[in-house]
Amino acid sequence: MDIKRVSVLGAGQMGSGIAQVAAQAGYQVSMLDTKEEFLQRGINRIGKNLERSVAKERITEDEKNEILNRIHTTTGIQEAAGDADIVIEAVVENMEVKADVFRKLDKICPGHTILASNTSSLPITEIAAVTKRPEQVIGMHFMNPVPVMKLVEVIRGLATSDEVFATVEQLSRDMGKNPVEVNDFPGFVSNRVLMPMINEAIYAVYEGVATPEAIDDVMKMGMNHPMGPLTLADFIGLDTCLYIMETLYEGFGDSKYRPCPLLRKYVKAGWLGKKSGRGFYTYE
Ligand code: CAA
Repeated sequence: MDIKRVSVLGAGQMGSGIAQVAAQAGYQVSMLDTKEEFLQRGINRIGKNLERSVAKERITEDEKNEILNRIHTTTGIQEAAGDADIVIEAVVENMEVKADVFRKLDKICPGHTILASNTSSLPITEIAAVTKRPEQVIGMHFMNPVPVMKLVEVIRGLATSDEVFATVEQLSRDMGKNPVEVNDFPGFVSNRVLMPMINEAIYAVYEGVATPEAIDDVMKMGMNHPMGPLTLADFIGLDTCLYIMETLYEGFGDSKYRPCPLLRKYVKAGWLGKKSGRGFYTYE
């Protein structure tokens, strides 16, 4: 299948990153969000990233402008997705919201359009089931920060066709990423492995084993992780971490995925990590 037009739903951290790498790869991109100010914030983030690339002489000023010109922004879903070859959804991690978006997409998109979700843990098969084209629904899970991280976890729903899988695999490569094939189980692979580690690090704080700084030092210096698990949790967002742990806990029914009570407490307090200014660390 030939992909030319990519539609990205959501201009947040993930959506804007996906729009950036798609535009850098030469695709015509339309980026949707619910408010102009969110779109502007997304475009500013992309502009800053590209500015850094210009400063490092990786791209020219003209190339930066060409990339930005390939990104069209809109608050209208018909305008964003009505002529897309693939839609990559990166809206809030909420099944009802995503189901609603996919129902709409199924109605307005041409028959050939692939519907992909950047969900970090919601079942692709369940999202696909609200559409009349489950064989064209797939998971495309990018990592944060999208312009830097090489992985795209490509998740096959129960009905995803081989042709759609192959198209998305190739698209990921064309976007400069390395696709890895994964089946549809709670947390896929990335979060099934990452989140219990983060949750365990939070238990270590909760039980007074060590300070957050000490735990992060152990993992950075001892295991060569670029960020310690608690810094990473703050970076991902503690609400997102809790949500993913709940998905694992519910999906497998196994107590090994029980979210740490301290994680719950922080989220209840509004300590969501970097984005709220406070999590395991404080931020300006
Ligand atoms: N957006 C774009 N580019 C960014 C960036 C951002 N938010 N943050 C850093 N960068 C770029 C920098 O510009 C720099 O680029 P160059 O090498 O081209 O100069 C490069 O990344 C390295 O940055 P720094 O030198 O400033 O800092 P660093 O070496 O500490 O790297 C990092 C920063 C890449 C974020 C690194 O700390 C890292 O890899 N951390 C772990 C990230 C991770 O695990 N992500 C996955 C999270 S889980 C997830 O996303 C899935 C989920 O479902 C929850």
